[in-house]
Amino acid sequence: MTRRSHTFAAVSGIGMLMLLAVGGCVDEKIVYRDGPNYAAPPSAAASFVGYSDVANKVTVCGNCHVSQQAKWKGSAHADAFATLEKSGSMQGYCQACHTVNNLGNVATDTTAGWRSTKDNRYHDVQCESCHGAGLAHIQQPTRGQMLASIKADTGKGLTNGCSECHTGTHNPFVEEWRQSRHATSYTRAYNGTTATAPEVPGGPRAACQSCHIGQRVLEAWGVNTNFVEKSQGQTAATSVGVACAVCHDPHGTPNSKNLRFPIDSRDLDNNLCMKCHYRRAVPDFSSSYGTSPHSPQGPMLLGEAGWWPPGIQADGDLVAAHGSERNPNLCATCHVNKYDVTDKATGKFVQTVTGHRFRAIPCVDSNGLPLPNAGQNCAVSQRSFKGCAASGCHTEASARTIMITAQQDIAGLAVGLNAMLARVPSSEFAVGKVTSARGARFNVNLALSPGSEVHNPFLAKALLRASIAQVAKDYNLTPPPGLDIAPYDKQILGRSSN
Ligand code: HEC
Ligand code: HEC
Ligand code: HEC
Ligand code: HEC
Ligand code: HEC
Ligand code: HEC
Ligand code: HEC
Ligand code: HEC
Repeated sequence: MTRRSHTFAAVSGIGMLMLLAVGGCVDEKIVYRDGPNYAAPPSAAASFVGYSDVANKVTVCGNCHVSQQAKWKGSAHADAFATLEKSGSMQGYCQACHTVNNLGNVATDTTAGWRSTKDNRYHDVQCESCHGAGLAHIQQPTRGQMLASIKADTGKGLTNGCSECHTGTHNPFVEEWRQSRHATSYTRAYNGTTATAPEVPGGPRAACQSCHIGQRVLEAWGVNTNFVEKSQGQTAATSVGVACAVCHDPHGTPNSKNLRFPIDSRDLDNNLCMKCHYRRAVPDFSSSYGTSPHSPQGPMLLGEAGWWPPGIQADGDLVAAHGSERNPNLCATCHVNKYDVTDKATGKFVQTVTGHRFRAIPCVDSNGLPLPNAGQNCAVSQRSFKGCAASGCHTEASARTIMITAQQDIAGLAVGLNAMLARVPSSEFAVGKVTSARGARFNVNLALSPGSEVHNPFLAKALLRASIAQVAKDYNLTPPPGLDIAPYDKQILGRSSN
């Protein structure tokens, strides 16, 4: 088989192996070849080149970009057309999202690639689906920008990403994501664009960007490949939030659904969600924000959050089942739950819910379809607990009851502790001071932060009980009557009396 092709005169004959040295953990290789073995694309394809070897799923691009080719070949994108054919319900209009054409990239020609040619070299979601038509680039690789976008939600004329295919009633990933705070997380890292970012009086801070701005997240994670928005991101207008390509590797990974990190790891540094949902889970006595938790959900779930009075050994029972091996998918079990909604009366399909709103217990309509954001202030009785039921451990009703009970217990303890803290001299709360009062205040804020009653009710209650006992001892206060603070009554108060 000859690798020579007349359309490849520009680089043919070089025949050498070149490694592009890239730092970090991305091992990117470009192999110069005599030229990929591909036939010139029909002119109707508008410069999309597709496969050079359909049977073996070798893309023309992949002849040189071998590492992306290898990863991509194992991803579902590489099987998109077979999936469609096997479904038994393929119709003409299905094909655009399962083939190479203008969807997903900057091309605007609606006859490009598969659309006009129906040539099987354009089967599947290939490189050019995201990078755009490649003929000019492969004829002269140093020419022709093939950068893909990490934006999920842009209009034509700019760049286009995942949203052009991951959309509609069967696949409303982008519609749901757009409503989540992940889509707007970048606004938090800029002063002047939002009044709710009190920690940045002077403007954007590196400290905020590594979780809130998509470009900087990838940088922090060692993804040093190039993409359209990479060099942007210093202003709120050019920043990307926690977009699809932040959580998902567009080329594929061995993790479930091509996620960049696993969701089933109980390691705070290696779990996708916990890598960001872990900023301040213990008090920072040196900071004026130090008694407010900031994304404490990871350590909370794993039983590692909060302030422990000195000398107290937390007993071994402070990890809820939700953070244990009994819940392998951890955060994603409750917050990313995919299911179909059917009409109660007719039994007909209404819409798929992809779980990309990331809400654990959304307010839903009579069919169980989550309401838009404006409708998300409903009572707990109108919330769907489907995510809890999907685990097989609860029914929706029992999960709801357990949550309400935990909320009440926590609220009772927090009210009692707050009443005590109100009697502690204000000097005890001064920034920089390491005091039980400040530790206890942190624990109140942690226990009352949304979701704590589900993430880890045992830890929340234990921290409040221990705080009540410690504050009583240190400031000579009597705990409000009727509060059960065992075993810390003996451990802390008992110790003070001898
Ligand atoms: C003949 C080998 C060859 C083929 C085929 C090829 N590329 Fe490249 N590509 C290269 C080389 C070499 C570079 C580096 C060019 C440079 O540094 O100026 C490159 C650069 C790139 C870049 C980075 C651009 C940048 O500015 O950082 C992307 C993305 C890319 N190629 C994607 C593709 C896609 C998509 C295809 C298929 C349409 C493809 N390539 C086909 C050799 C190839
Ligand atoms: C708007 C783009 C789009 C159109 C049109 C489209 N699909 Fe898909 N299809 C997708 C995406 C995106 C996925 C991946 C969804 C996922 O992984 O959950 C998908 C996945 C699938 C799957 C895998 C099973 C699943 O749901 O995960 C099948 C089968 C399928 N599509 C069949 C069809 C058929 C049949 C049609 C036409 C009736 C069609 N598709 C039209 C975008 C589309
Ligand atoms: C689903 C969209 C998508 C598909 C499919 C895709 N890419 Fe990419 N590609 C991206 C995005 C987004 C980036 C930048 C982020 C990253 O690398 O993770 C990228 C980065 C790259 C780079 C790195 C450029 C650099 O500066 O180092 C190369 C090369 C590349 N892709 C080639 C390919 C090839 C070859 C294929 C097919 C085998 C392919 N891509 C398939 C979206 C995609
Ligand atoms: C041209 C349309 C198209 C574009 C653009 C596209 N996808 Fe897809 N994607 C699909 C289809 C179709 C499937 C289903 C393939 C199958 O199940 O065979 C899919 C499947 C997936 C899956 C499921 C993977 C798995 O292993 O089960 C993920 C995750 C995904 N896409 C993410 C992305 C991301 C992130 C982007 C943008 C960087 C993107 N897609 C761009 C059409 C597209
Ligand atoms: C380690 C990752 C990380 C870093 C660094 C980070 N954040 Fe966050 N931030 C998050 C996560 C995750 C959330 C959402 C979870 C939550 O609200 O508890 C969040 C939420 C927020 C919120 C919304 C809080 C609310 O309750 O509505 C603001 C405002 C915010 N961050 C500002 C900042 C600022 C300003 C900085 C820099 C000083 C910063 N963040 C640094 C991860 C981070
Ligand atoms: C905050 C991280 C995050 C972001 C952002 C995100 N996803 Fe996902 N995605 C997930 C997780 C987690 C899963 C579920 C993985 C599992 O169940 O194994 C998932 C699953 C998927 C799947 C497979 C669904 C199935 O059939 O089971 C597709 C397709 C997908 N995402 C596409 C997208 C697209 C498109 C976007 C942007 C609009 C996006 N995702 C944004 C985390 C994310
Ligand atoms: C790259 C960092 C990052 C990753 C990864 C990440 N998040 Fe987030 N998440 C954030 C930030 C930042 C916010 C808050 C944005 C804001 O308030 O502006 C947030 C907000 C949320 C919210 C509140 C959503 C809302 O709309 O009110 C939930 C729930 C959430 N994340 C769950 C998850 C889950 C589950 C995962 C893993 C599948 C995950 N996140 C992965 C950074 C991240
Ligand atoms: C057992 C189910 C469950 C697990 C596991 C879980 N959560 Fe939650 N989470 C909830 C519930 C229920 C709420 C409360 C939601 C509400 O009040 O709307 C919540 C609330 C949140 C919130 C606050 C949302 C808001 O509206 O401000 C964030 C952020 C969050 N969870 C992130 C995570 C992360 C990250 C993980 C993994 C470390 C995780 N959760 C694990 C069920 C769960």
